[in-house]
Formats: sequence, structure tokens, C-alpha cells
Amino acid sequence: MGCQYFSPGEHGADTFTIALPKLTFGRGCLSEAGARAAARGMSRVALFTDSFLKDSSYLETVQKSLQRAGVTSEIFSDIRIEPDDATILNAGRFIAQGNFDGVVSLGGGSVMDTAKTSMLYGLYPVDDFLDYFSPPIGAGIPVPGKLLPHMACPTTSGTGSECTSVAVIRINDLNSKFVLGSPLLMPDEALIDPSCCDSLPGNIIASTGFDLLSHAIECYTAKAYTRWAKIDDPLKRPYLQGANPWSDLAATRALEIVGEFIERGVNDASDSEARDQLMWGATLAGMAFGNSGTHLPHGLSYGVTQLMHDITTDGYSVESPFIPHGISVIASAPAIFRYTAEAAPQRHLEAANSLGAKAWDAGEDEAGEVVAGRIIELMKNTAMPNGIGDLGFGEADVKPLAASAVRQVRAIANSPRETNLQDIENIYAAAISYA
Ligand SMILES: [Fe+2]
Repeated sequence: MGCQYFSPGEHGADTFTIALPKLTFGRGCLSEAGARAAARGMSRVALFTDSFLKDSSYLETVQKSLQRAGVTSEIFSDIRIEPDDATILNAGRFIAQGNFDGVVSLGGGSVMDTAKTSMLYGLYPVDDFLDYFSPPIGAGIPVPGKLLPHMACPTTSGTGSECTSVAVIRINDLNSKFVLGSPLLMPDEALIDPSCCDSLPGNIIASTGFDLLSHAIECYTAKAYTRWAKIDDPLKRPYLQGANPWSDLAATRALEIVGEFIERGVNDASDSEARDQLMWGATLAGMAFGNSGTHLPHGLSYGVTQLMHDITTDGYSVESPFIPHGISVIASAPAIFRYTAEAAPQRHLEAANSLGAKAWDAGEDEAGEVVAGRIIELMKNTAMPNGIGDLGFGEADVKPLAASAVRQVRAIANSPRETNLQDIENIYAAAISYA
């Protein structure tokens, strides 16, 4: 490719793959669920949702649409926010016993990730839950075969899980979340109906919006795909393949959207234009990072959620300790981009300007500051925590946080700058609060 960032390396990849589900986007499109499910050959579906959405009009719309199309459904709603291995095994039994020929999921990332992985564990059980996870925590066993057709319907504007081949699962024995990835986990179809966000409180729009922001900026600043080693077997090319021309395209537009609309969407629940745009931005960011991978902000977020102290967040009915995913990601992001900018300063400046920094005259040596400054500005204007100090962490937590996060091997390797344990400690120390 012509861009200097993707210039060929001696042993580097010279090919990238783009994988996407069939997407339908727009207000009211949940009512298309039945016709679309029937067209895929579904006659009896497992309908995944959570306890908050079980009595919602969104679920009713999907159920009625399925009924009209002659598709029967059985609901599974025993899904906690940030599903753990026990949740997945339970949902896997539901799949194994239900004689289903398709899956529909309606919810945020937790619901969609449960739907993806319950099919894996229900259809292809293993003795050790970690077998399907990558080393060093798992055995790296490939997904053995096809899963059921899956139609994913997101109800928040952040996760992008409807467009990705990954799921994030909490492993209780390890007391942390890890990513499970396989091309076979990708939903076949997504129905993205922005009206699902109409009733969300502003702080949920904020935490999911910063997740989308971070997906987009991480894939734009990730290590170039040409710097990952070339893979001879095309079926072994990972989704986490580094920045590439496709992820650039979708991430740039997602950054423009989130930079323009996040403050409006958070601060005014009646601003449907802003909230619709954020939903589209989340879809674009999902299509981007689903084909590039994220890097340090997501990698380091898992340290934060493993070691969080007694803490709750307004708007989420979850027992302490709980920090929403988007907040755990963005809290360290300014310190991270101050660190990574020197490895790819032009990329960082371009990302910041897409996000609305208006720093067209900034020099390369200012790139980290420009990115960090714009993210901090958006965080302040949406009442986000000002660093991990506001999440209850202090100097004494820096080493344990780094020891936890360093296990996120592949995300760390997708950073544009080589990053070791000491670097991660320095980043956490710099992320306690921002001026
Ligand atoms: Fe995320």
C-alpha cells in the first residue's frame, strides 16, 4: 500500500483480511429480526438478553417480529454485566439442551459476548474452560467448527461486539477478564437500532462513548500490520493484525463522530441526532478494531478491573466493586498516548485532529500532548473520572496493576511502541490524575 506507515518490512505481513457481518442500521430495524432470521433458515432461536431488558419494549419488538415470521424463541436472561466463566457454562448448557437452529442476542457487549461463547462451550465442550483462550493463560485450542447462525442486536453505543470475532470473559479463578477470539465467533448479521439508546442515562452514554472513542484511536495508532510477522497459513491470520487501510478508514470517521457528538449525546438525552451518530460511530469503531485489534488502553484496563477497590458507578445496578468498561479503558488513555506518541507521532496527530483537537500546526514532538489534551477535555466535559486516582487507585497500586496488565500479551504487542513491565508501571503512575 502507498502509505508510509504501512511500508513493507523484511519479514512483515503483506496481506490483511477484513471480516464483517451483514449489517442493517436505522431506527426501527429491530422489527426486521423475524424476516431476517427466517431468511437465514432459523425456525427456533435462543434469544439472549439480560434482566434489565427482559421486560423492555425492544425485546417485545424482537419477539413479535420472530412470531410474525413463524420463528419460535426461548429466552435466556441470566447474564451478569461482564459475564464470567460460570455464566458462559450455564448459557452453554441452555444451548446444548435447547435444540436451536439459530441465536438472536439483544443487549450490550455482555449479552452478545455470552451468546457468542455459549455456542462454543455448548456445542464443543472442553474439560478446562481456558482451553480456547490463547497462551499464556490458555491452551490456544482453535474453535473446532461452525457455530449456529447469530443475529446480534446491540442496545448500547460502544462495544461494537456485533461486528467483532472476540468476546471478553471474566475468569473467576484468575480474577480478571481475558479476550477469546476466533473468526467463528463473528455474528452473521447485526441489527443496529439507535432507538435502543433513547432511554439510557447520560453517564452510560459517556462510558460506552469513551469505549468507542478508545476502540477507534487504538486501532488508528496500533502497530502497522506490516510490522507483524507474515503468516503463511491464511486461516491462522489473527483478527488482531494491526492497523491497516481498512481500519484507518472506519476509525477516522468514528473519531470524527465521537469528537463532534459525545458531549451532546451525554449531556442531552433528547438529542437523538447525537445519540444516533454515536451508535453509528460505535458500529464503525467495531468494524475497525475488529479487524486491527486494540492495544494498551484496553490491555491496561484489565489491570484496573482486576484490582479495583470498593467502588460503584451511578446508573449501573451492579454490586461493588464495579467500574464500567469504557471508564476502565479511558482512565489510563491520556498517559498511554503521551507514552506511545513518539513511536508514531503523525498518526497520533491525525487521530487527535479527527477527534476535534484542531491542532493542525502542532509539531511531532507535541503529538502526545495534543492527543492527551483532547481526550482529557472530552472527559472533563462529560464528568468522567480524572484518571485512575478517581477510581480509588494510588501509588501503592502501581506495581500490582502493572503485574496484572502485563499478562495481556497480544494487546501490548499491538502497541506502536515497545512496552515492558517498567513502562506499564510508569504509565499507571502517570495516569493517577491529569492536570
Ligand atoms: Fe472496549
